[in-house]
Amino acid sequence: MISFAERLLGWQATHGRHDLPWQVADAYRVWLSEIMLQQTQVTTVIPYYQRFLARFPSVAVLAAAPLDDVLALWSGLGYYSRARNLHAAAVMVVERFGGTFPQDPVLLAELPGVGRSTAAAIAAFSYSVKSPILDGNVKRVLARWAGISGFPGEKAIENRLWLLAESLLPANGTQMPAYTQAQMDLGATVCTPKKPACLACPLQDDCVARQTGRQLELPTPKPKKAMPERSTVMLLIRNDVGELMLEQRPPTGIWGGLWSLPEVASTLDAEDSCRQRWGLTVLPEPALPDFVHVFTHFRLTITPQPVSVLNTAPAVQEAGVRWFSRDAALAAGIPTPLRKLLTR
Ligand code: ADE
Ligand code: SF4
Repeated sequence: MISFAERLLGWQATHGRHDLPWQVADAYRVWLSEIMLQQTQVTTVIPYYQRFLARFPSVAVLAAAPLDDVLALWSGLGYYSRARNLHAAAVMVVERFGGTFPQDPVLLAELPGVGRSTAAAIAAFSYSVKSPILDGNVKRVLARWAGISGFPGEKAIENRLWLLAESLLPANGTQMPAYTQAQMDLGATVCTPKKPACLACPLQDDCVARQTGRQLELPTPKPKKAMPERSTVMLLIRNDVGELMLEQRPPTGIWGGLWSLPEVASTLDAEDSCRQRWGLTVLPEPALPDFVHVFTHFRLTITPQPVSVLNTAPAVQEAGVRWFSRDAALAAGIPTPLRKLLTR
């Protein structure tokens, strides 16, 4: 099979982008565009890029300009720390590197606002340096193509992706600008997050995600924070005519205003609680199996605890507490888990 790089280059020649204003071997222009493109789309960036270059035609002019002028021209692009870093980096290029951007990606990455991937992009586009990029698009393509699972924001996974990216570089440095652009363009137009167009992809023949139908599972998303867990014991208090005691919940909070089962913290509290709260003498039965109800912000494990009332004709007087037949309960406003419990 033709190499990964050769296939990307072949695809780039016919399907990639060739008319972007920053596709020039000029480190100042490439750097400026890469910073603007870090958090902003191409179509938004283009007019800003052009205005910026007209006002600051070289890194020396930018370094000598007041920061306020830079911020004014940045106005509307957002993420203003980028503009402050841009100005500081221009000063650094002039003072430390004599006004010429270095070729070594390790040195480029010392400029404020320039991370490892942006440094590699600048070096590849401007100087044809053989150094891989690894932005979000490339992480997605590589994780899918090689079938690498695990969240790419995790150091161990990211390191694997860097090593893989390094191993796939084209043999010839002169191909680096087209190859780097190909990676960005493939991720942006073919291997998209939600609808990868695998049949139009130069990597389809040996793509692990495609072979195993895992395109949408890779890259593995950021792990969700574990939901807080709460638990409660719900009392199924049945009187001598088979009615169930329900308690109206406070108007605010979960299940506000609904009729629900009285709750206690532990199954061991059932007897005492029934005596203290309602003067009921009860006989606890074995607890029913736990079940889980999922709310937006937490998971509630419910232990249903049946108890039968032993003293005759218990007259519950408390407002907000009533005896319900099963049918009356189902006809009332009751929480979903209680409805499930009653219909089992
Ligand atoms: N996003 C980041 N860098 C880019 C580039 N050089 N071309 C298109 N989109 C990009
Ligand atoms: Fe992405 Fe599909 Fe190409 Fe694999 S074959 S790299 S999933 S577009």
